[in-house]
Amino acid sequence: MTQVFKQDNHKIFWSDTLQVLSDDIPDNSIDLIFADPPYNIGKDFNGRKDKWASNDEYLNWCYDWLDLCIKKLKPTGSLYLMAATQNMPYFDIYLSKKLYILSRIVWFYDSSGVQARRYFGSLYEPILFCVKDKKQYTFNGDDILIEAKTGAERKLIDYRKPTPTLYNTKKVPGNVWEIPRVRYRMDEYENHPTQKPVALLERIILASSDPGDIVLDPFSGTFTTSFVAKKWGRQSIGIEIVEEYVKIGLRRLQFLTHYQGEELKREPRTYEKPAEIQQRLFEHP
Ligand SMILES: C[S@@+](CC[C@H](N)C(=O)[O-])C[C@H]1O[C@@H](n2cnc3c(N)ncnc32)[C@H](O)[C@@H]1O
Repeated sequence: MTQVFKQDNHKIFWSDTLQVLSDDIPDNSIDLIFADPPYNIGKDFNGRKDKWASNDEYLNWCYDWLDLCIKKLKPTGSLYLMAATQNMPYFDIYLSKKLYILSRIVWFYDSSGVQARRYFGSLYEPILFCVKDKKQYTFNGDDILIEAKTGAERKLIDYRKPTPTLYNTKKVPGNVWEIPRVRYRMDEYENHPTQKPVALLERIILASSDPGDIVLDPFSGTFTTSFVAKKWGRQSIGIEIVEEYVKIGLRRLQFLTHYQGEELKREPRTYEKPAEIQQRLFEHP
C-alpha cells in the first residue's frame, strides 16, 4: 500500500518504487531522475537486507525500474544512476541501448581506514549521466563551476589567445569528482548506511535541472535529493520503502514535526550529551 505526503511542490511516497513509478507518475513528466538503488552487497537498510538470491535476479529487478524511469522522463530529461562498481558494466550496456550516456563519472573519496589487505580497496563509486536526447537536454555548466588549478592558480598568462589574457580561474568539473563521504560528525549526517552527500546532489541538480523542474529519486533513503531540490527551488518526488527513512524525509523537508505522536528529531550523536549531563561535566570535569 502506498502512502503519500505532499507539501507545496514536494511529494514523499512511502511505498515500493516499482508500484509508485507504475501507478502514480505520469509518463514523460520528469526532468531529472537520480537513482541510487540498493547495490546488492548486503547492506542492512533498517532490517531490509540489500541482497538478492542471484545477481541476475538483482539485475532484472533493476532493468524493470530503469525501464519505468526512462518512460517517466520528459524527452529533454536526464537520468543519473549510481551502482556498485561490479554491476556498472551491465547497466552501461543496458542503458546505452536506450539513452545517450554522456558521462561516466567517478565519485572519488579518501578513506583513512584500511579498505582491504589482499586487493586494492574501493575508494570510488561510479555514476552514469544519461539523457534521452543528446541535442536537447539541460546542462547549466556555469552553475557548477569549480576552481581551475593550472595556470589560474599561478596567475599565468595565456599567450595563445589573440590578446594575451589570464587563464580561466573557473571550469566545469571533469568526470572525476572528489567529494567527501558523509561522516558521523557532519551536520548533514543521518542514521542511514549509504547516505549521499549534499555536495554531490547539488552538482547534479544544479547542472541538470532548472528552477521549477521536477526531480525524482526512486530510492530516497535520507531524502538528500529532495532536500537539495527544495533548497534550490526545484519540485521533488521521493520514494522510499522503509518507514524509518520516510520519517527522516518528513523531518528533513520540514513536512512534519510529529509523526504518529512521535516527535521527529535528528538522532543525537553520542558526543551530544543532554544539557544537564554537559552542565555536570562542566562543573565536575
Ligand atoms: C542506496 S540507498 C539511497 C540513499 C540515498 N541516496 C541517500 O542519500 O540517503 C537505497 C534506498 O532504497 C531503499 N529501497 C530499497 N528497495 C526499495 C524499493 N523497492 N522501493 C523503494 N525504496 C527502496 C532502501 O531502503 C534505501 O534507503
